Amino acid sequence: TNSEEQSSLEAYQWLVKLYHQLLRHSKDGKEALEYLYKRGFNDEVINEFQIGYSPSSREFVPQFLEKKGFHKQKMANTGLLATTNDGQYYDRFQGRVIFPIRNHLGKPIGFGGRSIHGQEPKYLNSPESALFQKSKLLYNFDLARAEIRRKGEVVLFEGYADVIASYQAGVKNGVASLGTSLTETHANLLRRYVDTVVICYDGDPAGQNATYKAIQLLKKVGCHIRVASLPFKYDPDQYIQEFGEESFRANVIESADTEMVFFLQYLKKDFNLSLEGDRLQYVEKVISEIAKLSSSIERDHYIREIAEEFNLSYDALSQELMSRMRNVE
Ligand code: CTP
Ligand code: MN
Ligand code: MN
Ligand code: MN
Ligand code: MN
Repeated sequence: TNSEEQSSLEAYQWLVKLYHQLLRHSKDGKEALEYLYKRGFNDEVINEFQIGYSPSSREFVPQFLEKKGFHKQKMANTGLLATTNDGQYYDRFQGRVIFPIRNHLGKPIGFGGRSIHGQEPKYLNSPESALFQKSKLLYNFDLARAEIRRKGEVVLFEGYADVIASYQAGVKNGVASLGTSLTETHANLLRRYVDTVVICYDGDPAGQNATYKAIQLLKKVGCHIRVASLPFKYDPDQYIQEFGEESFRANVIESADTEMVFFLQYLKKDFNLSLEGDRLQYVEKVISEIAKLSSSIERDHYIREIAEEFNLSYDALSQELMSRMRNVE
């Protein structure tokens, strides 16, 4: 790291403290703190994750940094400060709740700022820089690492709030790729630490599509996968709010199912299963996926399930499977 980056790293540490103090003790921060309490976050995780608040003032942060002896233009070069067209420095996160983003060594290298009055965008993140590269970074990896190792398993979420709410619920091996979809770099990083990745994305169509893509990537690098599915209208943090921590652990995380179970469900979206033609097409598609499974026990299991669900003959499906498998080879 060059000297600009070095001094930005120092500045980030100061800012994490500043934002957290402001959340805790300023009049302005009170509303933000109440927002967090209302979302169900407790003091312990607010401290652990050093959640903060940036005051509604453009100059406050640049002035603070200047007083600490930081060079504002250098801070702007690394994306820590924003600049206007006429060369003014300002804090892009003003008026937002701040989620510090730490690298794998636990050093803060960026922020995610969430609006609390419904302003768009909902989240504003630090810009990409040499220090902060979202495609390589997994949120909370540093805190979760010990638990990930112990369990041989990591839980993959979509967002900050999901990681923190799950952590509070006792699921401490959670990480998130930040808004971007999972990359091959993320997948390789995870593979180095674990055998199994539990994907726990949002229950909406975007989350399901992202799950499908993540499965393909993670399989490519050799991970075992389980999918923790959520009801349609929920993400992990909403689920915990509504159904509680116990239910989240038991009915979502511990009940995570095989990728094939997810897949059987996911593929249905492309078909109208009340039509016979669609039903048969779906079954054929599913059989070609089952043919890719390496375990004959698993293949047999899913063939039986499909036969039962669609009231088709097990023998016919088995034959179809056999011919597909010859094609696969
Ligand atoms: N995200 C982002 N910019 C946005 C929306 C989302 O960077 N405008 C990223 C954030 O990292 C966020 C993640 O994508 O945590 C998942 O997005 P979403 O599911 O919409 O947000 P939640 O994590 O559910 O956020 P919240 O619960 O605070 O609404
Ligand atoms: Mn294995
Ligand atoms: Mn989402
Ligand atoms: Mn979400
Ligand atoms: Mn959410």
